[in-house]
Amino acid sequence: EKHQSVEPFLQGKKVLVSAGPTHEKIDPVRFFTNHSSGKMGFALAEAAAKFGAEVTLVTGPTSLTAANNKINRINVTSAQDMYEAMHQYFPTNNIVIKAAAVADYTPKLVYDEKMKKQPGDLQLEMTRTKDILLSLGEIKTNQFLVGFAAETSNSIEYGLNKLEKKHLDAIIINDISTKGAGFGGDTNIVTYVNKKREREDIELASKKEIAEKVLRFIDRDMKDEKH
Ligand code: CTP
Ligand code: CA
Repeated sequence: EKHQSVEPFLQGKKVLVSAGPTHEKIDPVRFFTNHSSGKMGFALAEAAAKFGAEVTLVTGPTSLTAANNKINRINVTSAQDMYEAMHQYFPTNNIVIKAAAVADYTPKLVYDEKMKKQPGDLQLEMTRTKDILLSLGEIKTNQFLVGFAAETSNSIEYGLNKLEKKHLDAIIINDISTKGAGFGGDTNIVTYVNKKREREDIELASKKEIAEKVLRFIDRDMKDEKH
């Protein structure tokens, strides 16, 4: 069998990736979530491991399995769980990529028993979850911190705002309204922008190929600065 040799340019680096959706519990049978499959985050974790990094993958509920058994997988359920896991691993990692689609809201009250239907409409009070990425941006020391922006319009403008506001080193902007991009599928179309606002458009490709390109841009940008 012939193996193509891979240049292990992330050897000696620790990479922390978050993937998947979060599930926000309403009662024992119901939860609030989004369409994230986890595929982009898993692809990034696999690619980082392939390039020689030591990888921790914090993932929300997904049916995916990581092919590389050296990846340290941490399963979480809610946004609060993900917040805690990411803060636990953050200080010891060099590259941190937040590909997870974290629920922005969680039910204010969690019912211990199944909610029975009542006559008329239901109103559910929701409260904001913590912004994990922002909280990491505020405490970061030498980590190279990368976020995602999932947008349906003005994606570059909104993405650049997130890059700035969350103190990121780079952002991967995803226009999820474009065919072939975003949630669920095996392909994506993204724009990588670093904090110098250098922009790399990555055309329609598999999430695996996109992950590998993104890691090369991250490596290039890390060498440019002290990380
Ligand atoms: N993110 C996070 N914690 C949250 C919400 C988002 O860490 N509670 C992260 C995501 O993992 C992603 C980035 O922030 O890397 C951008 O997520 P996105 O949903 O595009 O942006 P928001 O800041 O949540 O703003 P909005 O959904 O209103 O566009
Ligand atoms: Ca959001």
